[in-house]
Amino acid sequence: MRNFNFIPFSRPSITEEEIKEVVKTLKSGWLTTGKKTKEFEEAFKNYIGANYAIAVNSATSGLFLSLKALGIKEGDEVIIPTWTFCATANVVIHCGATPVFCDVNEEYLLEPKEVLKKITKKTKAIIPVHFAGKSCDMDRINEIAKKYNLYVIEDAAHACGTIYQNKKVGKDSLLCVFSFYPTKNITTGEGGMVVTNEKELAEKIRIMALHGLTLNAYDRYKKNGSWYYEVIYPGFKCNMTDIQASIGLCQLKRIEEMIKKREDIVNYYQENLKYLNDLILPKIDLKNQRVSWHLYVVRLSKTARIGRDELIEFLKERNIGTSVHFIPLHLHPYYQKTYSLKKEDFPIANSLFSSSLSLPLYPDLKKEELDYIIYSIKEALC
Ligand SMILES: Cc1ncc(COP(=O)(O)O)c(C=O)c1O
Repeated sequence: MRNFNFIPFSRPSITEEEIKEVVKTLKSGWLTTGKKTKEFEEAFKNYIGANYAIAVNSATSGLFLSLKALGIKEGDEVIIPTWTFCATANVVIHCGATPVFCDVNEEYLLEPKEVLKKITKKTKAIIPVHFAGKSCDMDRINEIAKKYNLYVIEDAAHACGTIYQNKKVGKDSLLCVFSFYPTKNITTGEGGMVVTNEKELAEKIRIMALHGLTLNAYDRYKKNGSWYYEVIYPGFKCNMTDIQASIGLCQLKRIEEMIKKREDIVNYYQENLKYLNDLILPKIDLKNQRVSWHLYVVRLSKTARIGRDELIEFLKERNIGTSVHFIPLHLHPYYQKTYSLKKEDFPIANSLFSSSLSLPLYPDLKKEELDYIIYSIKEALC
């Protein structure tokens, strides 16, 4: 097997088209939120099939603004999975509310049965996380939310293009937030999108994302614009720029093609790794959904001749980048101390954490790189 230069864990897919569009925007005389951002919002809204889309500077901002728009505040509790990135918890804390951490199921997804155990009189919302591009059991989660009168804000940072029960994730949501961070299915460098079907929430979020002003700068400075604006809320600064949106527009045009490439890579991994008894592969044929494959996460069995950390080191020595998604939140010192979390209350997440690793998965991963990764894993485990 040929030796490779470093194969990164992730690599964004950027073509000449993105570069051309960014240059066009740079030369256009308008760099921040304007025509391109609006165009991106329209295109994204149509792609998902929802009524409104608001472009923001990150999914973190989008989640925070969503909670704010719903009035989540001190004294409220919000149920989140422990298996997520810290942003999901931090936005709850920054609203003054308390994140309530829930164990997940073997698919790394928020477990509805666990959610039920965590509901109290203070619970106001649930944030399901569509981990790795797999949708949570939204039928069950929405049913619980309806019964207990809770808001559902979907963290779809990983799920751009995921289809659940024949609809794109986000289509029927109260609020659903996507990320365009460079590792994600489409990127704008940094960026995010809030999708909703509620006009009032969309307007609130749009205003809060830009200082709480009634009129954005583009509408003030254009030919027939007005200099006058009013502050109707002490807002934040979370808007997307036209530079980012021009990248996003190109990426969105290629999203289906990029998801297909991800799918092909996943199928190739599955086909070639299935004979390794000590490697537990993800389930790929889920009858009620199309997974958008943001991540390819495998697990080592207890009988494997090396441990997860050793396998990561082994692959690193062979110039292969991997990652771990995630270190469950209940294991981080801040959340553990602040909310008196006990490790033993999250048995499934603990077991997933000790055995999981994410392998390289991106549209531009070459066949010979993929073969080399597979060969190296076999070498480590056989
Ligand atoms: C599950 C999850 N939620 C939220 C975020 C935050 O996304 P962003 O970096 O766009 O703020 C991430 C980022 O990786 C994530 O993995």
